[in-house]
Amino acid sequence: MRHWKKILIPYEQAVEELKVKFKAIRNELREISEYSPIEFVTGRVKKVSSILEKAKKYGFAENEIEEKIEDIAGIRIMCQFVDDIYKVVELIEQRDGKDLKIVYVKDYIKNRKESGYRSYHMIIKYPIQTAFGNKEILAEIQIRTLAMNFWATIEHSINYKYKKNVPEPIKERLKKSAEAAYHLDKEMWEIRHEVINAQKLFEIKSNTVSSIVNNIQILQYIGKENEVNAFQEKFDKVLGKGNIVELNDLSDDIKYMVDKYKAFD
Ligand code: GTP
Ligand code: MG
Repeated sequence: MRHWKKILIPYEQAVEELKVKFKAIRNELREISEYSPIEFVTGRVKKVSSILEKAKKYGFAENEIEEKIEDIAGIRIMCQFVDDIYKVVELIEQRDGKDLKIVYVKDYIKNRKESGYRSYHMIIKYPIQTAFGNKEILAEIQIRTLAMNFWATIEHSINYKYKKNVPEPIKERLKKSAEAAYHLDKEMWEIRHEVINAQKLFEIKSNTVSSIVNNIQILQYIGKENEVNAFQEKFDKVLGKGNIVELNDLSDDIKYMVDKYKAFD
């Protein structure tokens, strides 16, 4: 029997690292109020029971498992719009040969599966530094929209329940709902500019509010009681109205004041 706990350690590390990296792209863009093609990221290491089941299904020997099962480490990147998927693909392609290597891709969006499944898959090689030395492992990245993910999650649980012998009427329903998910993506794509603008505005507003709060705190810290009270009063008023231009002006005024006092430090 192989020491699975030890074998899976680098896979766990790879999943954690890749999650951090893709989440960082998202946070970096949001921080500067830019649109992020990544909505959220999940990841998992395949359970030993599933690994053994898959090896049995394909007739892999135990010592072949790591080179033949490509999804022991799995990352899922969820996007809002179909074209975001291809932006994420581009981001990953730019890293090819740097922190990862692309082995091959499968575009189940341009070529959807018979089941109705849509997603973009990338199989990559990822280097890992462990206590036992360096290692290169395989990982699967699935990139999909929220609608694709909703459908795939439900379809997967139904398949799991019926162990692939899904009754014909349910199969039909699943195909119909795959079609509905496709149309949902298409409709959302049509209004993407509207949606992206609304989200950017929200991001700008919350970043401006953060900046105001931080700078008022700095004034408080350096003992500018009168300024703090004046700005706080104004902030309460402007925040109530929610006007972005007024918020911005106030933010600039406070920043100016903070910079002025900083200059005398
Ligand atoms: P696997 O034996 O699953 O690795 O098949 P494969 O080597 O042909 O790879 P494929 O790219 O088809 O599938 C890899 C993964 O994509 C699966 O493990 C699922 O997570 C997902 N997937 C593929 N097809 C379907 C599908 O019809 N429904 C759902 N829900 N997920 C799918
Ligand atoms: Mg596979």
